[in-house]
Amino acid sequence: MLEKDIKKILVTEEEISERIKSLGQAITEDYAGKEPLVICILKGAAFFMTDLVRYMDLKVDIDFMDVDSYGDAFETSGDVKIVKDLSTSVANRDVIIVEDIIDTGTTLHYLVDLLKYRQANSIKIVTLLDKPDRRRFGLTPDYIGLEVPNEFVVGYGLDYLQRYRNLPYIGVLKEEIYKENLS
Ligand code: PRP
Repeated sequence: MLEKDIKKILVTEEEISERIKSLGQAITEDYAGKEPLVICILKGAAFFMTDLVRYMDLKVDIDFMDVDSYGDAFETSGDVKIVKDLSTSVANRDVIIVEDIIDTGTTLHYLVDLLKYRQANSIKIVTLLDKPDRRRFGLTPDYIGLEVPNEFVVGYGLDYLQRYRNLPYIGVLKEEIYKENLS
């Protein structure tokens, strides 16, 4: 039913799973002997984060934060709002921020500054998808699952008007689905 709105599959379920496994292994090696705090940025990254930590052979704490700079708009407002804050202190912690996608970099630019201000010991960023063509801030993630072109991608956490997050793969949405809202 959801599949009829998808123009093409960009990343299959198997490819997602393979990439997450190797990201988890790389993080495990890099954080050997440490106990990082993994921060999931809701809502999109929830799917990725819960799969990723299963491949991190480390003592980790997890927490969630919800920030909003888009609402249901196509373009970021540039103004980032905290909708739900962390319940764990980041002071002196090695923090790993988990994102589903980095687009303009507005959200992470804000978050990295905030967590530095709150005195995290170190901050690294892992993102499943990266859209480097759209970047407004000079922000480079430490771990990247895949680079994607500037297309409207949904699935595996990514939404269009809050829908399609539950697709098991990442696909490109048909233009006819979102074009009414473009004008
Ligand atoms: C998406 C994504 C990032 C942000 C990236 O979240 O999860 O947080 O946008 O865009 P940026 O690099 O231009 O800031 P969104 O606001 O769509 O919320 P969601 O995760 O709840 O869908």
